[in-house]
Formats: sequence, structure tokens, C-alpha cells
Amino acid sequence: MSVRDILEGRLTEKEVELRGWLVTKRSSGGVQFLMIRDGTGRLQCTVHKDEVGEKIFQKTDKLTQESSLTLKGIVKVDKRAPDGYEVKVRDLQVIQLAAQDYPLSKKEHGIDFLMDWRHLWIRSSRQAAILKIRAEVIKACRDFLDEEDFTLTDSPIFTPSIVEGAATLFETPYFGDKAFLTQSGQLYVEATIAAFGKVYCFGPTFRAERSKTPRHLTEFWMVEPEMAFFSFEDNLRLQEEMVSYIVKKTLEKRSKDFEVLKRDIKPLKKVEPPFDRISYTEAIEILQKNGYSIEWGEDLGLPHERTISLKFEKPVFVHRYPARTRAFYMQPDPVDSKVALCADLMAPEGYGEIIGGSERIHDLKLLEQRIEEFGLPRKAYEWYLDLRRYGSVPHSGFGLGIERVVTWICKLKHIRETIPFPRTMTRIYP
Ligand code: 4AD
Ligand code: MG
Repeated sequence: MSVRDILEGRLTEKEVELRGWLVTKRSSGGVQFLMIRDGTGRLQCTVHKDEVGEKIFQKTDKLTQESSLTLKGIVKVDKRAPDGYEVKVRDLQVIQLAAQDYPLSKKEHGIDFLMDWRHLWIRSSRQAAILKIRAEVIKACRDFLDEEDFTLTDSPIFTPSIVEGAATLFETPYFGDKAFLTQSGQLYVEATIAAFGKVYCFGPTFRAERSKTPRHLTEFWMVEPEMAFFSFEDNLRLQEEMVSYIVKKTLEKRSKDFEVLKRDIKPLKKVEPPFDRISYTEAIEILQKNGYSIEWGEDLGLPHERTISLKFEKPVFVHRYPARTRAFYMQPDPVDSKVALCADLMAPEGYGEIIGGSERIHDLKLLEQRIEEFGLPRKAYEWYLDLRRYGSVPHSGFGLGIERVVTWICKLKHIRETIPFPRTMTRIYP
């Protein structure tokens, strides 16, 4: 039996047994009001002295915040209760009486303090709502791709090669040799497309980000679909469908959590295909008109992306970035080889990049040339070049950052609340 069952009205006037944690307690005359949390919701439970007797009432009186307990009682409809239902307690057993000094009992705490107590903070209703939405976003990603006939093929975490640039690599000893923690599973899903056609990997990825920004973690989770025979344009279409699906499903399934967050969901309801597309060159023009002193060829930073994103109601693709600022594997545009067939998807409301994707180079010679130009160690990429030797086909793919999507959907100021235990440059505890 759960709090959710009670709140959904299925157990009215029935005897129930609940197991959970004490959130708050107050007393008034001969009645104790306990707010109980059991993982499915919160419910008021009342202990009346004249009904339970002195012994149980005394036990209740000693309960501390976060004590774990089992209680039995009858479900009552009660307009005065916060959710319209309450349990009138008949019996109560303490599983563990929590220590007196629950560190998060005050209403307001600074963010560093909360992060130090992250292992307890996740119990709060706001943090729980965010993590529920995160779980739904992940489920939506997987459901969407599974329904579209993709095969999940996970990529390794220990890798011999760089995917997204040497500056953000984590290195680790590996039996007398060295290995890198993966920055992206992309190169490996490029291998599995030849076995399955449409594939994806989903797992943690690692970047030694030195920047302390509200949208960078050193460990984050990425969904990376890769599709044989998909053109650049096919890739964008899949992305807009997938992002729209994620938003729709999350709104459908987690409306209560959006209420807890006080998230205005009107902007999210507008998210449906097609999304606008602007080129990097157009983006630079927009930025210059908005007073930025940015030149063609420079990378876009958060303020730039924010400015672009605020000009659109729905997510917007910025495509065809200068090839030399982008990864080695990106297919140059046949119309203008200065730019790559790549696009970043910018979330609206000022959020910026949530997806990076591209068409990949499928020509052996060109790929060899790019590996050399980028000064990458050829030996580590021999297996990747083999993919261009044996049945190479045009193909495209993208990586969607789970925490970036959750930050936007929940409309958070900082990415650190979107993952149970965030890892940043300055935080590896708890
Ligand atoms: O744009 P990125 O670097 O692209 C790739 O890694 C490609 N290999 C993906 C692919 O095509 N298969 O990263 C993809 C996404 C970004 O758009 C962003 O959402 C997220 O990963 N991301 C981060 N999220 C949190 N913290 C960080 N440090 C992130 N770096 C990238
Ligand atoms: Mg990117």
C-alpha cells in the first residue's frame, strides 16, 4: 500500500499499513499531525491520544524528523488535510529514530551547504520532482528510439582515443598503459550501424571541463543515436521528433512534479516539429546586430546561444559551423567546405545547446587527412578507419545531453540539480 494509492482514492475507509519517513510533526491538544513520505507521495497522518492510548502517543511525541516508521490506520476523507485524505493512526512502530540534528531542517540554506548534504537533500520535494522528471526524460528517450526500431549498443567507458578534443580528456592508468574516460560513445556506435542500421548508446560521459558554468558537469549522461544512410537533413528531422516526444511524454506523466517546481508549462506545450533552422553565418549576423563583437569563425558561448535561443519560441537548430572549430569526423558541406554539416539544437527560454550532431565523414581518404590535420595519433584510430574500408556508407548521428534537457524542461538556473550526485571541477563529494 502506498501514499499514491490513498491519494488516488482507492483505499478510503480501509485499513492500511504505510512504511516511510517522517517529514514534519506538529501537535495540537491531544492530536499529533505527522506528514509521512513513502517515495510515492506525502500524506498527513493523525495520532489521537484518546484513541491510541498513552504509550503510542508518547512514542509519537518523541519522533524526530526523518525517523523511519511503519504505521497502521484507517484512511479518511478530510477536507482539512492538505491533500484531502488522511490516515487516522491506530498503531505505530519506529524502525529507526533519526538523530536529533537533521541538518536540513531549516527552510533556507546556501547552495554549497545543500550540495555538501546532497545525499539527504534529494529527499526534499523539489529535488525529488526534478529527479522524477529526469527519470521520465530518460525513459522517453529510450521509448522513442526503441519504437523507431533502434538497437541499443553501449559504448565502452575506457577508451584509447579522443572524440571531442584533447583539452577535456580524463586520463587514467591502465595496466602499465593509459586509457581515457570516454567523452562520447559516438565512434563506437558508428561501428555498430553496420550490424544494425539504426543504433544508440546511452551512458555516462566524461569531460575535464575547467569552466565553472551553470551548464557544465564533468560527468554527464548522453544518448547518442547513429543512423546508417541518414543525411544531414534526416538527422535534424529525427532530433526534432525526439525532443518533441520527450517534452510531450514528460508533461503527460509528470504534471504533478511540474506543479511542485512551479514550472510554467505553456512554453513547453509549443514544442512540436518542425523547429526553425538558421545557419551559423546567420547566427553571427543576428549577434552582431545585437551588439556582440563576434566575428565569423569564433565559437558561440553561452551568452551568444542565450541571445539566439530567446529569439525563438521553440528549439532552434544552428547549423553549418566553421569546420576548423569542430570535431575531426564531421562531413564538410559539399557546397562550401569551410563549414561542416553539423548542427547544435538550442533549447528556448535562453537555455542554448542541448544536442550536438552531424553527418560523418564516410570517405577513407578524407578521414585520414582530417586525423592528420588534427594531429591525432593514427594508431588509435585504425579500427575507426576500418569502418571506411569495409562497406562505408553516408551516416549521421547526434548526442543529447540528459542534464541539459532536464535543466531546460524544469527551467532551472543550474545543471547541478538535474543529476543525483553532480560532479564538477570543484565537487566530488558526496
Ligand atoms: O556537442 P557534443 O560535444 O557532441 C558530441 O559529443 C558528439 N560526439 C555527439 C554525437 O554526435 N554522438 O556533446 C553533445 C551534448 C551537448 O549538446 C550537451 O547537451 C551535452 O552533450 N554536453 C554536456 N552536458 C553537461 N556537461 C557537459 N560538460 C557537457 N558537454 C556536452
Ligand atoms: Mg557541442
